[in-house]
Amino acid sequence: MISATAFAHPNIALVKYWGKRDLRLNLPSVSSLSLTLGPWRTQTRVTWGSYEDRVSLDGSWIEGSAAVKVLAHLDRIDPRRPPCTVVSDNDFPTGAGLASSASGFAALTLAACAAAQQDRSIDELSILARQGSGSACRSLWGGFVQWNRGQRPDGTDSHGAPIADQDHWDVSMVVAVVHDGPKSVGSTEGMLRTAQTSPLYQTWLDTAEANVHTAHEAVLKRDIQALGEVMESSTFKMHATMHTASPPLIYWQPGTVAAIQAVFELRKRGVGAWVTMDAGPQVKVLCLSKDADDVQRILQPHAQRVEVLRAGGPATVRVHAD
Ligand code: DP6
Repeated sequence: MISATAFAHPNIALVKYWGKRDLRLNLPSVSSLSLTLGPWRTQTRVTWGSYEDRVSLDGSWIEGSAAVKVLAHLDRIDPRRPPCTVVSDNDFPTGAGLASSASGFAALTLAACAAAQQDRSIDELSILARQGSGSACRSLWGGFVQWNRGQRPDGTDSHGAPIADQDHWDVSMVVAVVHDGPKSVGSTEGMLRTAQTSPLYQTWLDTAEANVHTAHEAVLKRDIQALGEVMESSTFKMHATMHTASPPLIYWQPGTVAAIQAVFELRKRGVGAWVTMDAGPQVKVLCLSKDADDVQRILQPHAQRVEVLRAGGPATVRVHAD
């Protein structure tokens, strides 16, 4: 019986993944680019060879669809696996608007492959993590990461790739939690509905790769304005496809719009700050770290809490012989 414990940070897409070209292999219709965020992280321990399958999440043993998804991921890693125990904990608040599925499936993949003594490259680990949850394939690396959509039908060219590590550039992501509560429609269902019904979806597809290219260049040049502008463009285009789906998908709450307006006002006063939102109401603001206090202050009146996050490092794993 071997156990392994992995740590992975969540990540936030600066240029978004939204839409799937293959549901079974979880292949994206567009490339995306993210920033791995610290200090928040998921810790996952996998014991390969226990007396039955068991899954614990944030301190409680769970059953139902979340446990089924975790165990199906272990089957993907080794279809002839023994029963396993998975214990996973996030040190960040749920509902904070950062997908715990990204750090969760990255840590699960890393811990399970190590516990199973599989010798896999980091690209193979990313491909596996992608099949658990798309955004997870970017959380294996620290700093700025690009996920190329790939062309191959088997998905072997669709995985994360590092652009610049966490020490490349001192940027912050200021997260305003404007509304607590469960997500109305999950990402997978939301993506399918958008692709099937939004008249703007084709424009989204047609412009995504150029956005990734612009963001990549901006990261390398440390050009916060260029990165902020393309990030906002990607987020508002994604939300436009959601808003024009049938029935419409509106993840925003009144606090979302208030926070966006506050950031626009701050920008008029000369502070470089740009917004992004995912499949939920929270507003996340990209800025240079020297401006993070100003951003935090203007978001406070519109939010239940505001957290300042920095670039995080790569996922890590260690093996223990029990
Ligand atoms: C809006 O990675 O959660 O956050 O692959 O269906 O598990 P699945 O989706 P998921 O979607 C993330 C969508 C997003 C944008 C992004 O992170 O790129």
